[in-house]
Amino acid sequence: MLDFKKIIADELKKVTNIDTIEEYIEVPTNKEMGDYSLPCFKLAKEMKKAPQMIANEIKEKLEINEELISKVDVVNGYLNFYVNPLSVINTVFEEIDNKKEDYGSSNIGEGKNVVIDYSSPNIAKPFHIGHLRSTVIGNALYKIYKFLGYNTTGINHLGDYGTQFGKLIEGYKRWGEEYNIEENPIDELTKIYIRINNLCKEDESVLEECRNNFKKLEDGDEYCTEIWQKFRDLSLEEFQKVYDLLDVHFDSLNGEAFYSDKMGEVIDILEKSGKLVESEGARVINLDDKDMPPCIIEKTNGSTTYATRDLAAILYRARTYDFDKAIYVTSYEQILHFKQVFEVAKLLGIDKKYTDNLTHVPFGMVLLKTGKMSTREGTIIKLEDLLNEAIERVSKIIEEKNPNLEEKEDVAKKVGIGAVIFNDLYNSRIKDEIFDWDTMLNFNGETGPYLQYTYVRTNSILSKVGDIPQLSDIDINILNDDASINLTKTLYSFGDAIKQAADKNEPYIIARYLINLAQLFSSFYNENKIINEETSVQAARVYLTYCVNLVLKRGASLLGIQMPERM
Ligand code: ARG
Repeated sequence: MLDFKKIIADELKKVTNIDTIEEYIEVPTNKEMGDYSLPCFKLAKEMKKAPQMIANEIKEKLEINEELISKVDVVNGYLNFYVNPLSVINTVFEEIDNKKEDYGSSNIGEGKNVVIDYSSPNIAKPFHIGHLRSTVIGNALYKIYKFLGYNTTGINHLGDYGTQFGKLIEGYKRWGEEYNIEENPIDELTKIYIRINNLCKEDESVLEECRNNFKKLEDGDEYCTEIWQKFRDLSLEEFQKVYDLLDVHFDSLNGEAFYSDKMGEVIDILEKSGKLVESEGARVINLDDKDMPPCIIEKTNGSTTYATRDLAAILYRARTYDFDKAIYVTSYEQILHFKQVFEVAKLLGIDKKYTDNLTHVPFGMVLLKTGKMSTREGTIIKLEDLLNEAIERVSKIIEEKNPNLEEKEDVAKKVGIGAVIFNDLYNSRIKDEIFDWDTMLNFNGETGPYLQYTYVRTNSILSKVGDIPQLSDIDINILNDDASINLTKTLYSFGDAIKQAADKNEPYIIARYLINLAQLFSSFYNENKIINEETSVQAARVYLTYCVNLVLKRGASLLGIQMPERM
């Protein structure tokens, strides 16, 4: 595909002798200012001239191929470039004809390994809406990196370890029979946990027993390990229901417990570094000089911490996956945790290549319209219930509007789940997300259902014509109206949107791109008759519709959203 930015940069290079000039070229938000723009004030210092003068001089000397760039303008010290719409249409159509559903993919990630740690719920505890964000954002990043050619590994770093399991084992030993944990593992285990916790408060000796259990678990005691394994299996089975609904998969389920026998090495290395110090009975790494509280490696009672396990995981992932980038998707509440861990990781003696590429990708809270979700007020919502509610709500809408729709259940699932996922990805991730059914299910809003509805519209146009016309039969000169040109220019920038999303670890860039594309398609559709036009006109417009169809579907799939074929 033609790279217009590069074509412009190459010409500018010849005139200015600045090799890095491509970095200065911007894409103006206001389309009146052209498709690309060079802010000449950035060259003013170097060239010792006023920006306006520089712009005029460059323009004089530029030799531009008019078939590619139709106009160059100087406005207030900016050099604005207008791409020839026909060459955009041409290059987009050719590229789509070649790559079909892989349009927008790239090989920039070839030979590079990305490890993404996401979802990571805690076993024996509810999988709540906070984990939804990690799951959905992580899954999108996974797909985005893969599409860019990276060798991607998805890890569910399960919270399946820690002193609370000593307590759970004790509770289960005492009252296991009273609870139906096979039937309803998470709820029942939560009840056991609350009960044993209360008993521990009353009776110090019970707490001692709990500690013993955890110690035994760490030492590989058969009985304790068996019960722990049972909790883990049952919890995973329940989490799996959510993963199935979301269609999310992992390459590894190595959680915290996996590192239980790998922390000794971390402690050894830290000891040898001379930085591991005693503090109030615990062993810590001081991070005063980094303006952070100390990172606790071993607690007073000798047990390891969440941070120690993360350090062991870094060591393991460096060795196992040889990662070029390791991403962690959690709520912003863990910003400090990861800052500390990433700092301490520098003492592990692994290559800088690893420690320089540890990236925490934090996200904001999920808020109800009425305020924060919290356990105490009982407003915590179980994710599985929530996803099923989304599906039910869409089923109702279908019953009202289109009761004869084929494969209703499948459509309801794709639309309901798609709505929840899209809502989660539409804003910069650090923003708190408002969870409101009416907003996310609005078919005319900036929503998942709106994208799906637009996609279905393109589908019905394509099925009316039957075969997609051959590119060689298309006269692109027909597509010379503003709506068609804007639509094609946006199709052109699909690949850029994907790269940017990966660069910033921000799936919302693709979500917004898709809404924009869908809206431009609506304008195109409203302004142009597609079917029953003169043959050549119909063919050109159908081909453009076909391109939009492919890109909407692919874009949605990068976000983890499936498109219904009809609705
Ligand atoms: N289990 C943790 C939680 O629910 C998230 C784990 C994130 N990943 C990690 N490597 N620390 O808060």
